[in-house]
This record gives sequence, structure tokens and C-alpha cells, in this order.
Amino acid sequence: MPGVAVIGLQWGDEAKGKVVDILTDQNDIVVRYQGGANAGHTVVFDGEKYKLSLIPSGIFRSEVQSVIAGGVVIDPKSLFDEIDSLVGRGIKIDNNLMISDRAHLIFPWHKIEDKILDSANGQESIGTTMRGIGPCYQDKVSRSLAIRVGDMFKSEFKRRVEYIAGMKKRRFDCLLRDLEKGDNLINLDVNIDTSQIIEEYSGFAERLRPYVCDTTNYLLDAVDENKRILFEGAQGSLLDIDHGTFPFVTSSNSSGVGISSGSGVPSRFINKIYGVVKAYSTRVGGGPFPTEQDNETGAMLRNRGKEYGTVTKRPRRCGWFDVVAVRYAARLSGVDAISLMLLDVLSGFDILQICTSYNINGRIYNHFPSQVEDLRLAIPNYETLPGWDEDISNIKNYEDLPSNAKYYIQRISELIEKKIEIISVGADRKQTIFINK
Ligand code: GDP
Ligand code: IMO
Ligand code: MG
Repeated sequence: MPGVAVIGLQWGDEAKGKVVDILTDQNDIVVRYQGGANAGHTVVFDGEKYKLSLIPSGIFRSEVQSVIAGGVVIDPKSLFDEIDSLVGRGIKIDNNLMISDRAHLIFPWHKIEDKILDSANGQESIGTTMRGIGPCYQDKVSRSLAIRVGDMFKSEFKRRVEYIAGMKKRRFDCLLRDLEKGDNLINLDVNIDTSQIIEEYSGFAERLRPYVCDTTNYLLDAVDENKRILFEGAQGSLLDIDHGTFPFVTSSNSSGVGISSGSGVPSRFINKIYGVVKAYSTRVGGGPFPTEQDNETGAMLRNRGKEYGTVTKRPRRCGWFDVVAVRYAARLSGVDAISLMLLDVLSGFDILQICTSYNINGRIYNHFPSQVEDLRLAIPNYETLPGWDEDISNIKNYEDLPSNAKYYIQRISELIEKKIEIISVGADRKQTIFINK
């Protein structure tokens, strides 16, 4: 089966949505398999801009089947807001969308818990998207307080919501009593209106029913039938719960290692992995970021790249390209080829810098540290490259790029030891350069 995957290799927002959209017409099925409405994927074509959170970025090709697999955590309100907005703009969403009955549900208590726990980190705040992602995955793993999509259709659903709501209320009372109340907790509304939740989620269940099925079985059948499946990663590899910059990570396996667990499709059926990188680096929320430019350079990158969060609108932290981080992420995610995005943003810089190694306590590091305390101490060693002034956003062929842009691309490819197959020079589908494969 020709399975392909699109995986972010930095801290998210690498423009995975654009890459999935441009690869969709070569596939039969597009699968979101981890994360939730913390993701914000942007697709631009025909003068229209679409922002997707839970719906796979393949949805714009109605002949392609979109699947939200069991590893995703679903906030039904957010899902239906997204569906309504897309349908209102003329996008077909009916039997071309399938939702796993194994996916876990986000409830209002998860968002409250997200706020309480983010303040309870005991150090720098993680700066989550407050979409209830961590608490929902926490309940999934600890099992007793979890509710899956398939549970909504069972007779004990209401009793289960009542039971869990009661448990959560008691938990919040204890947590708030024990925690030092930071500013952000003083006005926190911890009220859980159980009957309103039951009514609202019963309505969601009826709306969800036509989309819900056993997507694992569907995908395994698709593998047997030799269908072409594209797996759409959310977040970035450095936000991976096991292999990222813990604890400043998201709560799922957002690197390539999560494809199989989230979708149910064995990794041996995935034969091409695209790693998506920006031509520089960004990060939203807390956590170490060695190449961060908290200065005019960072502000210039933010302004040119319009680097504000798709979901939370927070300004993204910006910095230079980090080879140590990307090489690690590319190896971890089993990447075959790179999509280098937002290259146009770099037009107009006199010089460009690429971090090629870290200096940590006087020692040179070529590998990405496993402990954030070490990463915090990392002083980047930079290679300086000449910039270019030309606007490259309408260039269609690699040969037509300014020579300094070609040199920048070539150096990144050499340093991360991966070939670059796609270069993006603007948000639109058409602003894409394909390099001979
Ligand atoms: P994702 O979460 O990885 O899908 O990325 P986001 O959609 O959150 O962020 C990427 C942003 O960059 C979006 O606003 C895209 O429309 C925009 N974008 C994508 N490719 C390009 C590009 O090549 N150049 C520029 N200037 N913007 C781009
Ligand atoms: P896409 O798919 C960028 C970050 C948050 C926070 C940390 C944990 O659009 O690339 P969470 O709400 O997941 O518990 O937050 O992860 N984060 C993202 N950053 N892009 C994303 O998704 C992100 N999803 C989560 O900012 O630092
Ligand atoms: Mg995003």
C-alpha cells in the first residue's frame, strides 16, 4: 500500500496543512490520528483561506475520504463549529468524513483542568492551548474517568457523565485548595453544570452518529485493498509527549512514532514520510528554544511570516533554523523527504543564520539533549549565510530562485542529511516549487 505521512519537524505550525492539501489529490484517504482542537492547520486556494482544527486538511477534495482516527481527542462543539463553518462556505462534509468510535471525548471539565494544571507546573507555565487536550489524554491513559465517542450511544452514557462530573468537581475543589492561586486562577469558573452537559452531549451524539464507525477496521481493509492513505500529523515532533522537550510538549505522540498507535495502521505500510519544516523556527507557549531571537530579527520574522497562533492568536516566538533540532526530529520521525516552507519570509534579510551545533557548558553538542535543563543552557553555534532581497513568492521553478536562496536550501539539506522535495514560497496552493524527485 502506498502510505504517506506528513509530519512537522519543529514545534508545530510548520505549514503541514498546506502540504497535506497539495498531496491529497494523489491519495484516496486522508487520516488525522492524534491531537485535537489544539491544532490549527491553514489551507489557502482560489483566494480563500481555511483554518482547520480537527477536520483533516484533505477535506477540500470531496472524492477523498477524510478520517478522524481513534488517537484523536474530540471536542464535539469545536468539531461542529468547524463543520458548520466549512459547509457554510460550500465544502462538502457528509459521508466523506468518518470519525472513530474509539476517539476520546473532551468535556468542559477537561478545559477547566487544563487551566488549573497549567498553573500547577511548579515552574514556567507550559502555555497550553487550553483546549483540554492534556487532561483528556490523561483520563484516556488512566481509563476510569474516560468517555469515548462510542460510549455516547450506550444506555449508561448519562449515568457515566453524572459520575465523572461528580468526581471532577471533588478533584477541582481539592486541587484549588492545595494550589497557590495564581492570577489566572482567581477568576476561574470551575462550575460544572451536569444536566446541561448531558443535554448538550446527547445532541452532539445524534449529530455525530452518521459519521461514527470503527475507523481502524476501515483503514486495515483499505490497506488490504491497496488504497492510497495519507496520514496528517498535528503539532510537531519536538512537542512529542515521549520524545519532545518534556514537559513543554503536547500530550500525544506528534512525531512519526505516533502514526501507528493513533491510526491502527502498522508502520510497515507507510512507505514515504514527508518532514515539514519552516525555513526558520517558531514556537508557541513555554519551553526552551535555543535559536529564539527575542529581538528585532525575531520581530521581523514574526511580521513577515504573520507568526500569530492559528488557534490562540498568541504571537509565536521566532528564531533561526536549528539543524540540531530538525536533524533529530527527522531521524525520529523516519523522514524520507523534506518540505521546506515559508522560504519567502526570509527575503530581505542581509544575512541568515543556521544553528549547526550547541555549546552546553563548554562542550559541543551535535545531538538534541533529552533534558530541558540542558537545552536551556544551549548556546547555538551559527553558520552565517548571505541573504537575498528578491521577492520569491511567484517563482515556480527551483532554477529561478536567487542563488543565495538556492545556497540556503542546499546547506539545510546537507546539514540535516535529507533531500528537499517541496519548497513553499507563499501560503497559496500554487506557491509551491516541486524539486525533481
Ligand atoms: P500547520 O499547523 O503546520 O498546518 O501550520 P499553520 O497553518 O498553523 O501555520 C502556517 C502558516 O503559514 C499559515 O498561516 C499558512 O497559511 C502560512 N503559510 C504556509 N506556507 C507558506 C509559505 O510558504 N509562505 C508564507 N508566507 N506563508 C505560508
Ligand atoms: P499545529 O498542528 C503549535 C503547543 C502549545 C503548548 C503545548 C501544549 O497547528 O502545528 P496543548 O494544548 O497541546 O496541551 O499545548 O503545545 N501546541 C502547538 N503549538 N502548533 C500546534 O498545532 C500546537 N498544538 C499544541 O502552544 O506550548
Ligand atoms: Mg498550526
